Amino acid sequence: MIPTLQTSRLILRPLQLADAEQVQVLFPKWEIVRYLTAQVPWPYPPDDAYQFYRNVALPAMERGNAWHWMLALKTAPSRVIGSIGLMNNNEVNRGFWLGLPWQGQGLMTEACSAITEYWFNTLKFPVLRVPKAVANTASRRISEKEGMRVVAVEQRDYVCGRLPTEIWEITAEEWRSRQPAPRKQNQSS
Ligand SMILES: CC(C)(COP(=O)(O)OP(=O)(O)OC[C@H]1O[C@@H](n2cnc3c(N)ncnc32)[C@H](O)[C@@H]1OP(=O)(O)O)[C@@H](O)C(=O)NCCC(=O)NCCS
Repeated sequence: MIPTLQTSRLILRPLQLADAEQVQVLFPKWEIVRYLTAQVPWPYPPDDAYQFYRNVALPAMERGNAWHWMLALKTAPSRVIGSIGLMNNNEVNRGFWLGLPWQGQGLMTEACSAITEYWFNTLKFPVLRVPKAVANTASRRISEKEGMRVVAVEQRDYVCGRLPTEIWEITAEEWRSRQPAPRKQNQSS
């Protein structure tokens, strides 16, 4: 069972098929898809969110190979503003996108911190690995701020074409060493 998580501004709740309707409106924008894997169809078919969730994302969640959450602001909990997911494979362990009106406010940085903690502390994977187009400044910045390292550079295919790509990585040990120390208990109590 995938839990609902919270950050200071966000609710992250497990993806459901009913979310496809809002995603179909929000997601198919060039600024959102251009640096996503070329497996995302473009132009985006009118029922692709529904098909992708039903045929790929939800079955992977049921098999225990993926953990996908929808993002909503605490101030408007029923409105989907984006999505973040974790995947158990050797190539891509985390993916995310945010609707255009909500970008540039630190929201995905906030979501990533909760989700990366889930990857290491709940799922207990030893390493988090994510490929990113070098041109995708905002996404790379998130990895940089998390203390991830570039371990390889290669070419990959995106919706916008073939691009130089960095493979970013952080181990559980590296991630733990960056987390704030737990607050000390009051010794006198
Ligand atoms: C990547 C994405 C999720 C970032 O979401 P966001 O909530 O806007 O990101 P944040 O506000 O947390 O910003 C992250 C960092 O990137 C920087 N940044 C954000 N947008 C930027 C831009 N267009 N150009 C350069 N830097 C940018 C921010 O300043 C911040 O760095 P800082 O804390 O040093 O100031 C969003 O841009 C998006 O949905 N992109 C399309 C989908 C995508 O590319 N997903 C990732 C595939 S690897």
